[in-house]
Amino acid sequence: MKEFFHLGPGSEVPGWLEDLDRRCFGEPWGALAGHEEAWGAVGECFALWAIGDTIQEAELLRIAVEPELRARGHGHELMKTCEGQLSRLGIRTLLLEVRVSNTPARQLYDASGWRQDGLRKAYYKDGEDAALYRKELG
Ligand SMILES: CC(C)(COP(=O)(O)OP(=O)(O)OC[C@H]1O[C@@H](n2cnc3c(N)ncnc32)[C@H](O)[C@@H]1OP(=O)(O)O)[C@@H](O)C(=O)NCCC(=O)NCCS
Repeated sequence: MKEFFHLGPGSEVPGWLEDLDRRCFGEPWGALAGHEEAWGAVGECFALWAIGDTIQEAELLRIAVEPELRARGHGHELMKTCEGQLSRLGIRTLLLEVRVSNTPARQLYDASGWRQDGLRKAYYKDGEDAALYRKELG
């Protein structure tokens, strides 16, 4: 990754990130809420996390790599960076949910040491199931 960035609670989202967010997820997330943190590389990728207030948990809300840069290890590198930063914040447990059909994302989570620990039936509006993943930071 080239230029690393961090966005904390209340940060405005830069234009390139809002654009990537819209292309990947339809609706951009908007300014970060009080419990949200994001890390990434400028123009390449980002990951948005919700940080537990009183518990040492963080939930991965969104992760995206620019389409033309995918399958080159950026996702892996970003995940490693986030884990280091979250660990420094005292986070011990990482959680996420993902569409069961999202093979690239599930491959990234599997390869990054996450383990599936549940399934939420018909979780998404279109009826698709969500796979629940968890990772304990060492
Ligand atoms: C999910 C995503 C972030 C992965 O980023 P990436 O930079 O392509 O990931 P990496 O190159 O680090 O690859 C990670 C793993 O996924 C695998 N992978 C990447 N693209 C894949 C694909 N299209 N099909 C299957 N596996 C794939 C890689 O081989 C690697 O696995 P390995 O370590 O076992 O070889 C990216 O595909 C993306 O932005 N998707 C759209 C947004 C999204 O769906 N986000 C997740 C839900 S929030």
